[in-house]
Amino acid sequence: MDFELKSLTLARVCTEKCDALIVLVPDGLASAADPVSSLVAQAIKSGDFESKAGKLLGAYAPAGIAATRVVLVGAGDGSAKSVKTAVAAAMGALRGGPARRVVLALSALRGSDSEAAQAAVQACDYASYVYTTTKSKPAAQKLNRVVVGVKALAEARAGFSRGVALAQGVSLAREWANRPANHATPTLVAQAARELGKLPNIKVDVLGPKEVAKLGMGSFMAVAQGSEEPLRFIVLRYDGGPKTEPPVVLVGKGITFDTGGISMKPAAEMDEMKYDMGGAASVLGTFRALGALQPALNVVGLIPACENMPDGRAVKPGDVVTSMSGQTIEILNTDAEGRLVLCDALTYAERFKPRAVVDIATLTGACVIALGSIRSGLFSSDDALAQSLTSAGDSSLDLCWRMPLDDEYAEGLKTNFADVANVAGRAGGSITAAKFLQRFTGKFPWAHLDIAGTAWKGGAAKGATGRPVPLLIDFLLGQVQAAKKPTLKRTARPAVKSRA
Ligand code: BES
Ligand code: MN
Ligand code: ZN
Repeated sequence: MDFELKSLTLARVCTEKCDALIVLVPDGLASAADPVSSLVAQAIKSGDFESKAGKLLGAYAPAGIAATRVVLVGAGDGSAKSVKTAVAAAMGALRGGPARRVVLALSALRGSDSEAAQAAVQACDYASYVYTTTKSKPAAQKLNRVVVGVKALAEARAGFSRGVALAQGVSLAREWANRPANHATPTLVAQAARELGKLPNIKVDVLGPKEVAKLGMGSFMAVAQGSEEPLRFIVLRYDGGPKTEPPVVLVGKGITFDTGGISMKPAAEMDEMKYDMGGAASVLGTFRALGALQPALNVVGLIPACENMPDGRAVKPGDVVTSMSGQTIEILNTDAEGRLVLCDALTYAERFKPRAVVDIATLTGACVIALGSIRSGLFSSDDALAQSLTSAGDSSLDLCWRMPLDDEYAEGLKTNFADVANVAGRAGGSITAAKFLQRFTGKFPWAHLDIAGTAWKGGAAKGATGRPVPLLIDFLLGQVQAAKKPTLKRTARPAVKSRA
């Protein structure tokens, strides 16, 4: 999608030729003489339209307006959340129609042009994403150009660029999470990561089975050993800050398919386990956005990628393996594989002497039961880090909720045959999983995001959401401010024309 930012008053919007004009109408819009304002006033007076966020009214070739179609959409209080709701509704109204070039008028909103532009670009790109990779015919999607009209161009620029960068990151994450497991093997995911190495300040290294064995990642290897697909351990680096500054490390669970292994999952909905690399996809998406935003900080991305399959050589319940940390693990349930690949990646993270480590994983069905699909589970023993992540979730509208980590929750992980078992009982399953991970995080501030409920949607809108890329980007940009550095390292003025 091509986005362009333009300064457009409501009066100017009326003369802007396009296939469709979307006008965001906030509560209490002041009356004015231009055709759009009078159309809004008439529609509200007659009871055909209201400014509540997401309310719609369509018009075809209205008098005095150059656009072929006009969609009035309520934007309520004009907050980022209302803008998101409004743009999603308006894009829904145009879906499947012939519009190619759209003008999205934010000029009537009273709040920050920057926030509105960011929310509008993100929501617009989100609504227009269509998965086509494994369809035989090209996309039916025609809409390809969006002009975002604002009151003050200079003010809107930063938010607009952020919106475009986030849109690029979110759609990359959705794309890789959506791809079926035979089109998103560990090798292919590693290739996608390598592509990101073409962006400025990003470097990518990919380790294979031999290197991983040399590192002593016995836990990760145990999960991978039941599959014909060779594992990959992907290391991404974004170096935007001074060399001496410790990085934030992101660790993404990259199970490209989770059958459960010998502790096999039931057949129903097992296809959804292609999304079990949603954490990895969110790390790729975050790096895509970092590559566009170029903030002044250092970030490392780690992705342990493999399949979890049953096989003659697969790991068996009761097997004991030695993790990279030296701790031995009794694998009582081979379906609790996410923690087994993550623990070795967490140990690997120590070498970066990180400022903080955040792992992102579709880790437990129990988290879906606890929090549903609205908030991701957040686990952290570091209050400041938990606070930063919670705030980033709030500001990006990509919400999370902090869960407890009392040591008593770890009782069930005790075993007579190894240092730790990989599962406890059914009760508090998302917390006991986090307690397992916590054993490998002694050397740095750590947080864990369980995205099992938020990384994808089921039902008619089945597909990946790209979460928590917005949360991670807001968190990382907050880290730049935390280090008292300028928000953005401006190597060049952000482009006003941008493609997502
Ligand atoms: N990938 C699953 C978690 C999952 C389940 C995500 C359903 C989304 C929807 C994970 O590997 C898993 O199988 N976890 C088990 C753990 C159990 C064996 C302790 C689970 O949640 O059932
Ligand atoms: Mn599993
Ligand atoms: Zn899994």
